[in-house]
Amino acid sequence: MEVIIKETYDLMSKAAAEAVASLINSKPNAVLGLATGSTPLGLYRELARMHKSDGLDFSQVTTFNLDEYVGLTKDHPQSYHYFMHENLFKHINIPPQNVYIPSGTTTNYRAFCAWFERRIEEVGGIDLQLLGIGSDGHIAFNEPSSSLGSRTRIKTLARQTIEDNARFFDRIEDVPVYAITMGVGTILEARQILFLANGENKAAAVAAAVEGPVTSMITASALQLHPDTICYLDRPAAGKLKMIDYYEWIQAKRPGAPKTA
Ligand code: F6R
Repeated sequence: MEVIIKETYDLMSKAAAEAVASLINSKPNAVLGLATGSTPLGLYRELARMHKSDGLDFSQVTTFNLDEYVGLTKDHPQSYHYFMHENLFKHINIPPQNVYIPSGTTTNYRAFCAWFERRIEEVGGIDLQLLGIGSDGHIAFNEPSSSLGSRTRIKTLARQTIEDNARFFDRIEDVPVYAITMGVGTILEARQILFLANGENKAAAVAAAVEGPVTSMITASALQLHPDTICYLDRPAAGKLKMIDYYEWIQAKRPGAPKTA
């Protein structure tokens, strides 16, 4: 896993947005996997800016979101449908029919999850998947002890995640207990993964994911098995990494590295 550490959240967000834009420029019909939460907000702001100022074109892009709360309608202000519309989709030119977000209100979850997986396959798979990390080490809503081979399904949120996400709701009791989420196995099939984390409160989870053993207790550690994952961190999120000097040495030496492609 390549680890890129930036001094600030803004610099981290811009570096990750450049990687997304470079994919879209080289493959206009790219398939993106998207995340919600606080972490990608800066990246989405930057993509919106690139669309407006530099003409970054999303007209052929397709997106699949990682997850959605069960029970929240699309127009609920805390639903991930609403989040994506407000923070990205309404600012860019993506056709609505190219946007896939798990449904929180389907009446047949099993059939919906199977259909969602099938749609990913039918469009040729995800080219680039964005991920954040929960303070318990989750990716998407794959909570500790989730199978590392899991597929899109319903998942019961961990208490820690409910507490972490309560900041978005009026009362902790309003945080849904269930979510539909892509599985770890689904995520690992993306051709490239950009894994982002910022803030000191993520430092322990990041260190466990990047340098700890691969374990279902930290589902982000499964990214160690992925051949092309880049981890973008701000300085505080990198605070507990043991190999930090090596990661920075690699980046410093990058301009002189042998060309591999
Ligand atoms: C969101 C998601 C979650 C978040 C994680 C971090 O779609 O899948 O795994 O990435 O909970 O959330 P924030 O970024 O709010 O700290």
